[in-house]
Amino acid sequence: MTVSELKSAFQSAYGKPAEAVYFSPGRVNLIGEHTDYNGGSVFPCALSFGAYLLLAKNDKNEVSFKSLNQPEVLSLPFDRLTQRLEKSWVNYPLGVFAQFIKRGVSIKQGYDILIWGDVPNGAGLSSSAALEVVTAYALNDQLGSGFNRSELARIGQKAEHEFALVNCGIMDQFASANGKKDHAIHLNCDTLDFELVPVKLEGVKILISNTHSPHKLDSGAYNERVAQCKKAVEQLNKVRPLKFLAELTEEEFRKIESAITDPVAHKRARHVVGEVQRTKDAVKALKAGNLKKFGELMNASHVSLRDDYEVTGPELDAMAEEAWKIDGVIGSRMTGGGFGGCTVSLVKDEAIDNFIKQVGEAYERRIGIKPEFYVAEIGDGASKLA
Ligand code: GLA
Repeated sequence: MTVSELKSAFQSAYGKPAEAVYFSPGRVNLIGEHTDYNGGSVFPCALSFGAYLLLAKNDKNEVSFKSLNQPEVLSLPFDRLTQRLEKSWVNYPLGVFAQFIKRGVSIKQGYDILIWGDVPNGAGLSSSAALEVVTAYALNDQLGSGFNRSELARIGQKAEHEFALVNCGIMDQFASANGKKDHAIHLNCDTLDFELVPVKLEGVKILISNTHSPHKLDSGAYNERVAQCKKAVEQLNKVRPLKFLAELTEEEFRKIESAITDPVAHKRARHVVGEVQRTKDAVKALKAGNLKKFGELMNASHVSLRDDYEVTGPELDAMAEEAWKIDGVIGSRMTGGGFGGCTVSLVKDEAIDNFIKQVGEAYERRIGIKPEFYVAEIGDGASKLA
């Protein structure tokens, strides 16, 4: 939808014009998976699709939430803005209101809000982070609360923890807040220091393959991985003081890994330590224009997520395996939380059509679901559009 179509939709929904329009993107992570909550580095880019938020003030002492993607409509008085709802899409923007209030910002103005998103739902491309960050960006602008983009990302992450009950890391919200067109973000998730790295891919595109798998990464499986990493840190602490797994090089890990007596926690930790190294190596390779190396690291990342982290599943594995067979594929791996969702591949321009045909057919034959493909356009982070 265009901004003017969205404005008309707002007019129809509330019978008055929108006063402002905001946007915040989804993201695709090139490499560095399940490292963010372990203090490691990640390398995502913001996408050109995301969440839009339109609003106008009201004088009803309440905040109304409507979405063009969801049927449920809700109006909440100010004193209900800190309470999580049992089951509702509104928890995402509401969780952000609650975080503002927690940080001492008082909400004394009512708003009518309309949301629309074009990130495919459940695809692991951060539709929820886009919604959280667009809400945080809009509120910050409206209330003049002065939070910077990193703080807005933190607010979005905390909303996810407390209202969506997923103990996620900072990657998705940070990429949504800080993305830059044609750049990937090399983010240290412990310090939040980051570097924007130009993604100049001569003759190569970033292709996203959506498995449309019904098995989404649910909060249970995700939170379980977070807990297993914490357990590995606790066991390692018997032999070396450590806050995050990402503090260890692969060599240091090999010296003390036997302290992790739980075999599952051990595998999880091995993935994290290896993935942090792969991410750093991949950033170097990209800066040096060595795409071949970058692609090899992407493939190795998938294998580690499959064997040690166990978050791929048959659909993502089929998609990656079929991609690896195609001439002109530089690298391919699952992206995001895992289980369902998408893979990300670097594909030479001349191989794109063949990729979509061959991988599409083979995936459908193996899994029985029709996949979808998008050529990624790397866009900017959160902004006010009108
Ligand atoms: C989800 C979470 C992120 C990150 C990824 C895995 O997208 O929201 O914080 O942990 O999974 O890398």
